[in-house]
Amino acid sequence: MSIVILTGAGLSAESGLGTFRDADGLWLKFDLKEVATPEGYARDPVQVLDFYNMRRRNAAEAAPNAAHQALGRLVASDRHEVTIITQNIDDLHERGGTPNVNHIHGSLFEALCADCGHVWPHREDMTIEDACPACETIGTVRPNIVWFGEVPYRMEEAVAAIETCDLFVSIGTSGTVYPAAGFVDIADDAGARTLELNLEASGGIFGEVREGPASSVVPGWVANVLSGNG
Ligand code: APR
Repeated sequence: MSIVILTGAGLSAESGLGTFRDADGLWLKFDLKEVATPEGYARDPVQVLDFYNMRRRNAAEAAPNAAHQALGRLVASDRHEVTIITQNIDDLHERGGTPNVNHIHGSLFEALCADCGHVWPHREDMTIEDACPACETIGTVRPNIVWFGEVPYRMEEAVAAIETCDLFVSIGTSGTVYPAAGFVDIADDAGARTLELNLEASGGIFGEVREGPASSVVPGWVANVLSGNG
């Protein structure tokens, strides 16, 4: 069976990383126009770099939870063709045992040169004194994260997988930000089964919804799939 799994901030919530739109969500504490748009970066790069330095440190200190680890077991079982597409910019999928994740919103642990486009691994704090290792320009180093108004990464690959899958599963996302919010429609139009595993139903057009915290609902679902009842 070909399974495509879309994940969002709710998957990492129990690892201590905040979500965006819940009661204590990140976008209730920070103005996303100031810290998550190219315009905000152009206006005040230090504020933006400091915002992502804080999120990078939090993500580095966090640990994968039972849901990340269950998905790692599903992928490692090789029993099904599994594609994981994540909106998350942390590396908890990878540290939970999933090697090849499609980070359509980028990664906290990569840097991008806003001048030449070079991308490289970067786990330390970023400052405006940093130089790009490729073009040596100073002041153009930014997190390799897709901001609002920018084009998500590897979309063709993601849509191709969704259009040909047997089962599309959405985990821990409110389904409010496109293009990811439209993935369930693509899967449904292509005739796939659709399943949502979320703290509470997001209201999307899923054939089945299982509500509850990811750390219990996801391992339960993976156990079902691995025992042939998914
Ligand atoms: N287990 C499962 N689901 C949870 C949990 C949990 N422990 N805690 C919260 N959730 C669910 C919420 O019910 C909500 O539906 O996770 C979802 C989080 O929604 P958002 O905060 O909107 O996060 P997400 O959907 O990932 O946001 C999408 O928006 O701001 C942009 O680029 C950012 O990638 C992000 C995108």
